[in-house]
Amino acid sequence: MTMGSGENITSILHEDRKFPPTAEFTAQANISSEAQYQEMWQRAKDDPAGFWGELANANLDWFKPYDKVFEGVMPNTKWFTGGTLNAAYNCLDRHLTTWRKNKAAIIWEGEPGETRVLTYQDLHREVCKFANVLKQLGVQTGDRVTIYMPLVPELAIAMLACARIGAAHSIIFGGFSAEAVADRNNDAKARVVITADGGWRRGKEVPLKKAVDESLAKSPTVEKVVVLKRVGWPVSMVPDRDYWWHDLMQDASSDCDPVEVDSEHPLFILYTSGSTGKPKGVMHTTAGYLLGTMMTSKWVFDLKEEDTYWCTADIGWITGHSYVTYGPLLNGATVMMYEGAPNWPDEGRFWEIIEKYKVSIFYTAPTAIRAFMKWGDQWPNKFDLSSLRLLGSVGEPINPEAWMWYHRVIGLERCPIVDTWWQTETGAIMMSPLPGITPTKPGSCTRPLPGVVPDIVSKSGQSLPDNAGGLLVMRQSWPSMLRTLYGDHDRFLSTYFGEIEGLYFAGDGARRDTDGYYWIMGRVDDVLNVAGHRLSTMEVESALVSHPSVAEAAVVGFPHEIKGEGIACFVTLRTGDGNDSLKQTLIAHVRKTIGALATPDVIKFTAALPKTRSGKIMRRLLRDIAAGREQAGDTSTLEDLSVLAKLRESDE
Ligand code: WTA
Repeated sequence: MTMGSGENITSILHEDRKFPPTAEFTAQANISSEAQYQEMWQRAKDDPAGFWGELANANLDWFKPYDKVFEGVMPNTKWFTGGTLNAAYNCLDRHLTTWRKNKAAIIWEGEPGETRVLTYQDLHREVCKFANVLKQLGVQTGDRVTIYMPLVPELAIAMLACARIGAAHSIIFGGFSAEAVADRNNDAKARVVITADGGWRRGKEVPLKKAVDESLAKSPTVEKVVVLKRVGWPVSMVPDRDYWWHDLMQDASSDCDPVEVDSEHPLFILYTSGSTGKPKGVMHTTAGYLLGTMMTSKWVFDLKEEDTYWCTADIGWITGHSYVTYGPLLNGATVMMYEGAPNWPDEGRFWEIIEKYKVSIFYTAPTAIRAFMKWGDQWPNKFDLSSLRLLGSVGEPINPEAWMWYHRVIGLERCPIVDTWWQTETGAIMMSPLPGITPTKPGSCTRPLPGVVPDIVSKSGQSLPDNAGGLLVMRQSWPSMLRTLYGDHDRFLSTYFGEIEGLYFAGDGARRDTDGYYWIMGRVDDVLNVAGHRLSTMEVESALVSHPSVAEAAVVGFPHEIKGEGIACFVTLRTGDGNDSLKQTLIAHVRKTIGALATPDVIKFTAALPKTRSGKIMRRLLRDIAAGREQAGDTSTLEDLSVLAKLRESDE
């Protein structure tokens, strides 16, 4: 979906089906009446200090109480100023004085099939030990630590150990390349990297340490590397720089006082794609982020002590930060973690896990749901899914067909589906059904949660009426909002608050229907959403032009059956016409520069790109070509019309 030249966006999706929660679900829900929601939402809007202040007192453990709930106006809001606390203490220590001490915090299954269970006590001990290891390596409060690991319990241990000593973690998804790791190490000025020899993915070892070695040739700030032995793959260890996790942990003490940090102390940096080629270091701070993830876990997932909760995201993405780790652990929940692929050794793996561990809450992405649909009902039908009571979706708009399949085949027509809209920048879920009360409509993330005041506006910032498509903005600050882009506050201000004066805007188009339900229509900037992962067209373009054969490149998204969006690249060469072997070379080059998740689906060689007279590439036209659509848009500013004709003729 893109913004046309007019003020509004035209919406084409119409969906009238409505699914109310069952009376049984409502009766036991954490938020169980419409009146309760209305009252919470209104109070949070009119008296945010009172609303969030009470929740912060009741739900977080403070070393020193805060003085003020918030100060300043958006974008420069600070939350819970003057207070001190510790994130790891709130996730772990406070449960140890209760019956939860021996409750399972993490139930983990490796792709090859091994199982590990860590109780809150176990997790606490490992976190304390690893926090001492970090200190021994010279990590101090305020430092940044890169984590580049497979989805194993040690990833959660490493992140909580950072939080325990007040060092900010910067986690990089294991699918990113060595170059991406180097860029992020340098931007964050990371002093230590925590990695593994490799991880398992579809029966193969993913070599992580090897990528770290390559990245370190370009990351001068990194002094030490800790390596977890996961796959037993041979790796090179540089003396006095690289250490085995198990060697360091052997003698580490399990006593480690949590460092008392300020509410606004940085908890982590997470890099995400924006409209330009350089990834943005989204920075979250401590108290507001913890409160946001804790409350939304309780409200949206209706978390109960007895639940076995499974969010399938990798911890390398924001969903894994907020809803595999911080949110559920703050609530003392039991978290299911699975290392590998959904189709290994066969397409029944996820359903087998649900049956085996009696998973009750399952949170995944539309791209995965579309793959499940394609693999066929026979896979889930083989397993007993009756333990499930709630389903969730995140990452991109869920198409009504996928929603209905999820509802029917996985939810057996009795589980509410929470379609949760949020972003790396928002830290926590912003809009979602409340499962006990909100009648759901397939494809809509329904209504804002308490404390979230969204609006739909035109490009000039005017509020638009119901059903008019426009830009989705936030009118009020919320505790888990990003505070800055690491090292680039100006970019933070211009990206999120520069578009529309005084309002938060992070790139989505949407409309609100007459029931007050929001329908996300997709990004309006140059950000692609490929399999629920954000990539900027510019990032892929700069990867392409860094290849010596390429003169110029333009990258656009196109509708893709499984991934939501596919990546189409229009490439002009320095010399020659291009051929299949060069296509393969360029695809490999992009994978090496960014990572496998950025693999181009289509490369088209062209003698010229369509440009305006002022030299701007007309991406709108390229999007039409990539999608195989007739050009509907205005081509009057196109410099050379013959370019278009040639592009449309040229075969794949
Ligand atoms: C999209 C992921 C529609 C949206 C948590 C947003 C969604 C971007 C939904 C953020 C949803 C996420 N419905 N679109 N339920 N959830 N998006 O930062 O375009 O990886 O701006 O955070 O994903 O992606 P991010």
